[in-house]
Formats: sequence, structure tokens, C-alpha cells
Amino acid sequence: MIAIENLVQFFIETREHTENICKPLEIEDYVVQPIADVSPPKWHLGHTTWFFEEFILKHHKEGYTLFSEDFAFVFNSYYESVGKRVVRTDRGNLSRPTVDQVYAYRTYVTQALQELLEEEITPIVEKLLTIGIHHEKQHQELLVTDIKYILGNNPLTPIYEGELRFRESKKETLQSFITINEGVYEIGHTGEDFCYDNELGRHKVYLHDYQISNTLVTNGEWIAFIEAGGYQETLLWHSEGWDWVNTHEITAPMYWYLIDDEWHQYTLNNGLQKINPDETLAHISYYEAFAFAQWKGMRLPTEFEWEVASSQLDWGDRWEWTESSYLPYPGYTKEEGALGEYNGKFMVNQKVLRGGSVATPPKHTRHTYRNFFQTGLRWQFTGLRLAK
Ligand SMILES: [Fe+2]
Repeated sequence: MIAIENLVQFFIETREHTENICKPLEIEDYVVQPIADVSPPKWHLGHTTWFFEEFILKHHKEGYTLFSEDFAFVFNSYYESVGKRVVRTDRGNLSRPTVDQVYAYRTYVTQALQELLEEEITPIVEKLLTIGIHHEKQHQELLVTDIKYILGNNPLTPIYEGELRFRESKKETLQSFITINEGVYEIGHTGEDFCYDNELGRHKVYLHDYQISNTLVTNGEWIAFIEAGGYQETLLWHSEGWDWVNTHEITAPMYWYLIDDEWHQYTLNNGLQKINPDETLAHISYYEAFAFAQWKGMRLPTEFEWEVASSQLDWGDRWEWTESSYLPYPGYTKEEGALGEYNGKFMVNQKVLRGGSVATPPKHTRHTYRNFFQTGLRWQFTGLRLAK
């Protein structure tokens, strides 16, 4: 549990960090939504603010006046029980509210919340504030990956020129496999520190003997997969994955370009760069991760295998696809009310990713953290670790 004064500081730092991520942007960068999954930076700035306004200020600050009656419609993401909202694919069609208005909204809400916190912090406000901070941190990561998509899919391939550096390139060490003995292991969050509801329900699982790689798959290994015809070999793929490859004409990870017979990739801080084969791979879908593991004669670890081995792994550079479906742990209970929509309603047709990434903000992920995405998505910094 974090002390109240530290929590207030954590809140202020988090609000500032979000704005720091956006500092290098030009005004036009704030507004576009090139694909449905990528939200405009302006929308993230507003949505994270709306979250504090809707869940804390509106109900817990006496005499609070909404910054704008219209903003809930624009900045509610997926909370059905809170009211109607703009459809996701239209987030990039909104020239208003302006970026300036959204920054003014942020200041207004941050100040109102600071005032509330100076008066009295009730246990419920403390709990909601903690969730609001972690929620904003999740959006910080989305901001980084969405900015990468916006800039990286622009034909001018502009560079993200900020003080913030994202260590996208990291040399992998020599690969070896760690052996874990069969047995009963405990999975899930324990202790007083914050976690999401989906990490709770600590429970036992039985694992058979397995081996897990100490390294993540590298760009060089992926080039070998491409050159061996991996994207053309139907037998390596799930039926759905094969449809995905063909429908979207996938021939390489996202942000990879073959220029004069040499593979290049777009990176935030350095733009288009020649690919270094010794560095860690990023931006692949679950379908690709699975096909690659098949090609290697291995498999992806389950999320339980990953968690048990995690203390022996160097993790945190990529979200690692696992073979586990995103399901509730035993005894899982949703929060009451709208916040029950936070995690539980997504526990269908998604795979769990473990670890963290170069875009994950400080003090956010942990070894029990369960990220989750649909199987075809790859604009996050996703990679894979082999198991057998
Ligand atoms: Fe959100």
C-alpha cells in the first residue's frame, strides 16, 4: 500500500508524464486516427481526464461543476453503464474540442482533484484515485504506441524528437533454456500493493516439466523464418491466422520494409533504420508468434509457465505472447458498478501477454500483470519467448 502523500505525488507525476509524452507532437499529430485501434493523442489526453472526473470528482467532490456537459460523450471509451459515447472509429473525426481546450480540461480536473485530496481522502477516493493513476499509465503506453503508428505510417516517416527515449533496440544475449521441474505452483497477485482485479484469485496450478528460453526471439531469427518461406507455409498457421496473413497480405512484422534487399524498420527516436539481426524482435501478432514457434518445433509458454519462470528471466522489453486465453482466475469477482467493465468483459477471444515493454511507463508492470489483446493485433511492442 502506498502512503497517501506519496499517492498524491504519484498522481501529479502521472499527469505530467502524460503531457511530456505529447510534447514533441505537432498540432496535427494530436487529431488523426489512422486505424480503429489507434486513438488520437488528443483523445487519450481527454479520456484519462474524463476518467477522474466521472469516477471521482462527479460523485465525491461537493459542488463540483463539470468542465463541459458534452465531454463525457466524446471521452467515454467503453463504459456502457455510464452513458452513450462517440463510436470508436470516429475519434479521429473530431476537430473539436480543440487541443487547447483539452489541455485546459486537464488542468481544470487535475486542480479540482488536488483540491479534493487536500481536504480529505476517504478510502473510496483513495481506491478510485489509485485505479485512475494506473489507468492513465496504461494510456501512456497506448499514447506511445499510437504515436508510433501515426508517425511510422506517415510517408515522411517523421522522427519522435522528444527527451523521452524508447530503447527499442536491444541486443539479445546468448540463448539457453531454463528447466523448470514439474510441480504445483501458486499463480496470481499477493500482498498489499496495487494490482488489477484480473490478477486476483491466487491459486495453484500443476505444471509439467518444461523449458523456457532465457532470451526473446531476435530480428535475425525472424529474417530466417521469412527466408524459409514461413509466411507461405500454410501448415505452420492456425486456420484463422492463415486467413489473416492472406487477407492483410502479411509478409513481415509491422514497421518492417524491404529496401534494396535489406530489411529496415521504423523506430520512434531514430526513424527508418537498417535492422540489426542480433536485436529483439517487435510488432508481431499472436498468429505470427504461434507460426514461428511451430517452425522452430517448439511452442509459446502458457502464462503460468511464464509467471513461474519470471524470476529467472530478464523481462520487460516486449509484451510476450503466451499460449493462454484471457480467462478469469478462480473466484474472480468484478468490481461493482461501471468499474466492473474495466477488465472482466474482455475475457473472451483474447490471448494473454506477459512482461512489459519499452513503452510501459515506470512503476507499472509486475510479474503477475496480465496484458491481453486480440490475436491479430501487433501495434504494441509485442514479441515472443520460446518454450518446449
Ligand atoms: Fe481507458
